[in-house]
Amino acid sequence: MEWGKNCFSFSDKALFGSPALTAEIFPHMDRSMAPMNMMGLVESFERCLSNAIKTFPIPQPGSSVSLQDFVLRLAHRATGAAYFGPTFDVESFWEDWQGFDDGVWKVALAYPVPLCPHFVKSREKVIQRFLEYLDNPHEPCDMIGEQERMARDVAKLDRRDLGVLIMSSYWPLMANVPWGSLWLLINQLQRSEGLGPILAELDAAGEAWSATQPDPTIAYLSNLTGFFQSQPQLPLFQSTINEVLRFTSDSYSMRGVVPDEGAILGGYKLKKNDTLIMSTRSVHFDEALFGPDAKQFNPKRWMGSLSEEAKGSFRPYGGGVSMCSGRHFASYHVKILLTTMLHTFRFEVDKVKSPGPSPVTISSENRGFGLRRPQGELFVKVKRI
Ligand code: HEM
Repeated sequence: MEWGKNCFSFSDKALFGSPALTAEIFPHMDRSMAPMNMMGLVESFERCLSNAIKTFPIPQPGSSVSLQDFVLRLAHRATGAAYFGPTFDVESFWEDWQGFDDGVWKVALAYPVPLCPHFVKSREKVIQRFLEYLDNPHEPCDMIGEQERMARDVAKLDRRDLGVLIMSSYWPLMANVPWGSLWLLINQLQRSEGLGPILAELDAAGEAWSATQPDPTIAYLSNLTGFFQSQPQLPLFQSTINEVLRFTSDSYSMRGVVPDEGAILGGYKLKKNDTLIMSTRSVHFDEALFGPDAKQFNPKRWMGSLSEEAKGSFRPYGGGVSMCSGRHFASYHVKILLTTMLHTFRFEVDKVKSPGPSPVTISSENRGFGLRRPQGELFVKVKRI
């Protein structure tokens, strides 16, 4: 509730006077993201990405662009179109969205809101943009459309809270998923083998898959949703994605002690109402689980002989009752975005603007909230293939 107020600026009336918000609207999002319900949205994301990438601007030959800007902006265009429909100009609030995203985790970690004027201003502009969207004819995806209906008809939210709700639905998606794709590109471009082996593995599995389809002349690239739904064997790609999540995620799963008599956990005596925080990053960097190189990025780690205990301790999406409901969608998003980008663009690091073997390291930003943010910039020259 406190986050709802401080991070998103829901009114007290919405948070405390509309049980439908927490009892119906938020659970509806969880259900919409269940594997059996989300495939339409995945397909829509693939289509929107395919459209967005055709006209996506690349730097002039010889000049370079921040890889972070490039990837996040493309993801925003495609994901925004899939969520809010093709007629909404999501590009128009990109800068404000970044201002919001930069501040939201600080406010969630109790940084005083009045000391974050840029965050507040950006958030207000994003909300206003969503209100304009809602006031005009629009074609949202089923999930957003149903949320809007429930918010108007069941929760009877005020107009401003409607805009806040739509913004807060977009946030869990944009807060981490595109950053996962970005991190994979950064880490591999900073390694000598680059992205070539992943691309080769994808193409081999894609060709094998196409050969089993009714029309084998149709390339797997024109049906990535179907390809990934078939759960192809992609040990290197999957291992690299897992390693990105292990290496860059930093989430706190918070739980309260409920029984009146307290509880005993791992030998510790806990009182009723005590708060427990599972700090996944400490577990992911535990040498006893992941070996002496636990603090290094090793894309092949998950292809080796990791113990069952280590695999079971891998918790980028948290666990238990509030485990991330978007994790299945996130997995498709990352695979489709990366495969499409790798087949559309060649990236070459601009060694003048990003010198040294590892110009980008991990910052402490977004601590506790999913994936940490990069420290430093990777500038890249981009060529359309
Ligand atoms: C790489 C991407 C993502 C990461 C690392 C991530 C991480 C997390 C974590 C750590 C939690 C808290 C789990 C806990 O309390 O134990 C969480 C919760 C949640 N996530 Fe994600 N997430 C990602 C993508 C997504 C996406 C794509 C969506 C939806 C579109 C989403 C929606 C949610 C929701 C609704 C919750 C709250 C679940 C509940 O309280 O029942 N997440 N996420």
